[in-house]
Amino acid sequence: GKKDEPVAAAPAASAPPPPPPAKVYVVGTDAAYAPFEFQNEKGEIVGFSVDLLNAVAAKGGFEVKFVNTPWEGIFNALGQGDRDLLISSITITDERKQTMDFSDPYFDAYQLIAVKESSKIAKFDDLKKLKVGVQTGTTGDEVVTKLLGKNSTNVKRFESTPLALKELEAGGVDAVVADNGVVVNFVTNNPGAKFKTITDKAFLPEQYGVAVKKGNAEMLAKINKGLAAIKADGTYDKVFAKTFGA
Ligand code: ARG
Repeated sequence: GKKDEPVAAAPAASAPPPPPPAKVYVVGTDAAYAPFEFQNEKGEIVGFSVDLLNAVAAKGGFEVKFVNTPWEGIFNALGQGDRDLLISSITITDERKQTMDFSDPYFDAYQLIAVKESSKIAKFDDLKKLKVGVQTGTTGDEVVTKLLGKNSTNVKRFESTPLALKELEAGGVDAVVADNGVVVNFVTNNPGAKFKTITDKAFLPEQYGVAVKKGNAEMLAKINKGLAAIKADGTYDKVFAKTFGA
């Protein structure tokens, strides 16, 4: 109890020195992927991934700075050390695990086919002989390339998923295959495009992870610690609800 404390133990007059400033980690993200990572009217990078990583960093005891990084160069930027980590709706795959390490999964996703409302396409297999738009080097690209064949000129690759979807709207491709969240967001915000979406059991479940340079166990531990903390205390649910609704 307080009465037992010796007088000499009274706090010193001066405040303890402030903790050293936290290292700011540079985060690469391809900010053309609403509602996960995108630029607002002011050009700031915002979205679910940004809110999530900020919350993770607050619990994990580190700071982050987001840098827009085109998808096509994003993994190289990590490998070369230009980015400390990546959060970009990146699906954890065995192939990618060869060259980078992933945090615990933070989001479940799957592929979705977008077509015009008037289209007769009903399932993934129907795309075999058609022109299909994908974002280069994504899991959507992988599944479509597998279906249409490695040398098929009908796989139309785009720098970003919105560009592929705009080409569908313009009639340049018959379908787009991309992550469900980004497709649903586009369809919802562009009713004039008159798209419908199709799922198919051929598509395997996917999970997003934060990527770090292979062997960066220290960074990974901080991220996983922060992730576990925000899942446990309800912050994750709040961040999720802000973008996707409760
Ligand atoms: N989840 C897909 C993949 O990992 C697509 C991610 C694309 N992300 C982005 N910000 N463009 O291949």
